[in-house]
Amino acid sequence: MARGERRRRAVPAEGVRTAERAARGGPGQRDGRGAAPRSTAGGVAVAIVVLSLALGLSGRWVLAWHRARRAVTLHSAPPALPANSSSPAVAPGLFWGTYRPHVYFGMKTRSPKPLLTGLMWAQQGTTPGTPKLRHTCEQGDGVGPYGWEFHDGLSFGRQHIQDGALWLTTEFVKRPGGQHGGDWSWRVTVEPQASSTSALPLVSLFFYVMTDGKEVLLPEVEAKGQLKFISGRTSELGDFRFTLMPPTNPGDTAPKYGSYNVFWTSNPGLPLLTEMVKNSLNSWFQHRPPGASPERYLGLPGSLKWEDRSPSGQGQGQFLIQQVTLKVPFSVEFVFESGSAQAGGNQALPRLAGSLLTQTLENHAEAFRERFEKTFHLKEKGLSPGEQALGQAALSDLLGGIGYFYGQGLVLPDMGVEESEQKVDPALFPPIPLFTAVPSRSFFPRGFLWDEGFHQLVVQRWDPYLTREALGHWLGLLNADGWIGREQILGDEARARVPPEFLVQRAVHANPPTLLLPVAHMLEGGDPDDLAFLRKAFPRLHAWFSWLHQSQAGPVPLSYRWRGRDPALPTLLNPKTLPSGLDDYPRASHPSVAERHLDLRCWVALGARVLTQLAEYLGETEVAAELGPLAASLESAESLDELHWAQELGVFADFGNHTKAVQLKPRPPQGLVRVVGRPQPRLQYVDALGYVSLFPLLLRLLDPNSSRLGPLLDILADSRHLWSPFGLRSLAASSSFYGQRNSEHDPPYWRGAVWLNVNYLALGALHHYGQLKGPHQARAAKLHSELRANVVGNVWRQYQSTGFLWEQYSDRDGRGMGCRPFNGWTSLVLLAMAEDY
Ligand SMILES: *[C@@H]1O[C@H](CO)[C@@H](O)[C@H](O)[C@H]1NC(C)=O
Ligand SMILES: *[C@@H]1O[C@H](CO)[C@@H](O)[C@H](O)[C@H]1NC(C)=O
Ligand SMILES: *[C@@H]1O[C@H](CO)[C@@H](O)[C@H](O)[C@H]1NC(C)=O
Repeated sequence: MARGERRRRAVPAEGVRTAERAARGGPGQRDGRGAAPRSTAGGVAVAIVVLSLALGLSGRWVLAWHRARRAVTLHSAPPALPANSSSPAVAPGLFWGTYRPHVYFGMKTRSPKPLLTGLMWAQQGTTPGTPKLRHTCEQGDGVGPYGWEFHDGLSFGRQHIQDGALWLTTEFVKRPGGQHGGDWSWRVTVEPQASSTSALPLVSLFFYVMTDGKEVLLPEVEAKGQLKFISGRTSELGDFRFTLMPPTNPGDTAPKYGSYNVFWTSNPGLPLLTEMVKNSLNSWFQHRPPGASPERYLGLPGSLKWEDRSPSGQGQGQFLIQQVTLKVPFSVEFVFESGSAQAGGNQALPRLAGSLLTQTLENHAEAFRERFEKTFHLKEKGLSPGEQALGQAALSDLLGGIGYFYGQGLVLPDMGVEESEQKVDPALFPPIPLFTAVPSRSFFPRGFLWDEGFHQLVVQRWDPYLTREALGHWLGLLNADGWIGREQILGDEARARVPPEFLVQRAVHANPPTLLLPVAHMLEGGDPDDLAFLRKAFPRLHAWFSWLHQSQAGPVPLSYRWRGRDPALPTLLNPKTLPSGLDDYPRASHPSVAERHLDLRCWVALGARVLTQLAEYLGETEVAAELGPLAASLESAESLDELHWAQELGVFADFGNHTKAVQLKPRPPQGLVRVVGRPQPRLQYVDALGYVSLFPLLLRLLDPNSSRLGPLLDILADSRHLWSPFGLRSLAASSSFYGQRNSEHDPPYWRGAVWLNVNYLALGALHHYGQLKGPHQARAAKLHSELRANVVGNVWRQYQSTGFLWEQYSDRDGRGMGCRPFNGWTSLVLLAMAEDY
């Protein structure tokens, strides 16, 4: 998944030339194929047909043009979500949210042109020069651990952030009312670390508000340059007002002395925000509390005049930031009041601040704890208070990582040829919203298709409404062919985090259809709202599955091949398979069209099963008649054996042009180069024991009486192969690829480390076979409880010692590895604790 892109970033030369060229040249630079404006598409089509006939070109060119158009045309099926489903009128409760997962703290509206709010902070006077300004979550900024202790995905959250000697708590709570999404309040508390012995630091908090259009913000100023409030109006929010309350000591209501600065300017564009504030922090000011000696601090130059300097005079939006500086410890509240919420009642609502805010936050925290136990039963199951807190944090960080994105992706159409021969430019996908959870706030703060299926397994247990919203948005990304891009980089803020050469999604690349896992759960659960949603979503789910099953078809019937393996470059030990999600998991050494991928076949089998059940439930008899037989064939033990059982290896396997005899060897001056020895590659089963080998078990495709179940349990339970004290390894310790780098710059990724998503699938499968009569029932049940203890125990120990959930865990010592926080699918640890599969 995700990290494939990160690793590719380290070696930008590898097989991304088309994309690179395209990204530099920009879309449609050559002749606008595919990027032609929709309104004139018909006219362009006629012109092109005429032109190509005139030039005597074959129909191939027209076909190519047609393919390119379809790649960036939205699917015509009715949307799965009601029209305007994100609007404050239809979904007031979800209008405002912490939908900016990559900032430490901020909120915005679910809108293409949202009103954005956020927080930055800096400790004054620590180092010479500019203070360290904290704003976006970064891997290497020294902040952490941080994360949400509580977050209900809707109206309330409490986050803790450790930053050196400082301990910050950011809280928000919303109050419904009116027609525009209601009110909300923030409280930011800054305290010294308990262990800190140095003098109490001087800290600045920066609260900002940003508009992205014509809307106007109007600051009201008090005598001393201190803002009384900011008022404003937008078409979506109506009239509103922001008020920064006077700071207090934590838990107190008496005001505490603070120094204020205000800065008002044009919207510089989100990606430039931090830099602009940093560069503006160049003037010295005095903090002079009565009776204390003055202290200098860096502040924003007071400017309360704003001019629209945009060429059109239409305004590209405004940016208003208020800095308050004072000695820790302190709390500051920032209150948003919606005009229509205030006007709605009979009497003016009391401001959600001070002790009312304290009480409201406490009520929500209590309600959260109760609902959490009612949903997951961790206490009832005997998990320790610490483990329960881990479960709450896993859920809260996943919910707190939900974002709302809007923008246009770049798509490279499928031209029906192998990638290396493809000679077209990428085109812009139509602008589209995406409401999704993200794998990692610091490293992957955007949508990833196969991650999201796992995310929603957790989310739907807590709030099925959120899952319907997320699935509905993902299905809204479907193109005319039924394809969904696997990485969604929508909007400036998301784009700013991705180097240009990786912005392009290829319309022939699939990704595991994990969204069908929460769909299957909906179908089992029978919640009427879920079922109504599935009815609407069905045409899209069907189109998506049909595309997968047809576009990734393999060389022989009922076999499948991931399109888009990396080319066989001399620097790669084994060309990667990013679309599979398992990146560098070893596949056939020499990519070819003869390949058969076991995991993909199993995913398609799962898809056929779920779609068939869904079609039967909905009375879609035609589709049921079409997919039922496919599902049966894909689940048939004979067919699976015939295409994937490797007698000589004693397991299921991929098939392809393969030799074991590959190695990376130092070859100055090129560095490490792949050397192929003997035996030469030939068509055979691929001996790479690991997650892929387990797929028929993982997706529960085997009959409990299957003679193949025993051998799979054997390798799973064998510590020479997949079993480790910390969970199942991605690749067997006995494999020649175990722990191997894929190139000089490419450390091992799915080559031994323990991943939570697959361990969760394994737990679910063991639990499943542990409940069905069969020769392996008792063994499966025993393995389930042992694996669960290992996985949960290790994630818990790592969380205790680092304060984070991690992307993956070492199979040697259990250490958290990769990026953090990784509250994407690692949050599945909660469902493992709850034994909810
Ligand atoms: C959706 O919102 C737009 C703009 O606010 C409005 O013109 C349209 O009628 C709405 N559609 C529905 C179905 O509510
Ligand atoms: C396997 O790969 C080798 C080396 O690229 C090639 O010469 C051979 O033709 C391939 N065999 C098949 C069956 O694709
Ligand atoms: C497996 O075999 C046992 C004994 O023959 C039988 O009772 C059971 O129903 C079988 N299970 C399935 C799922 O076919």
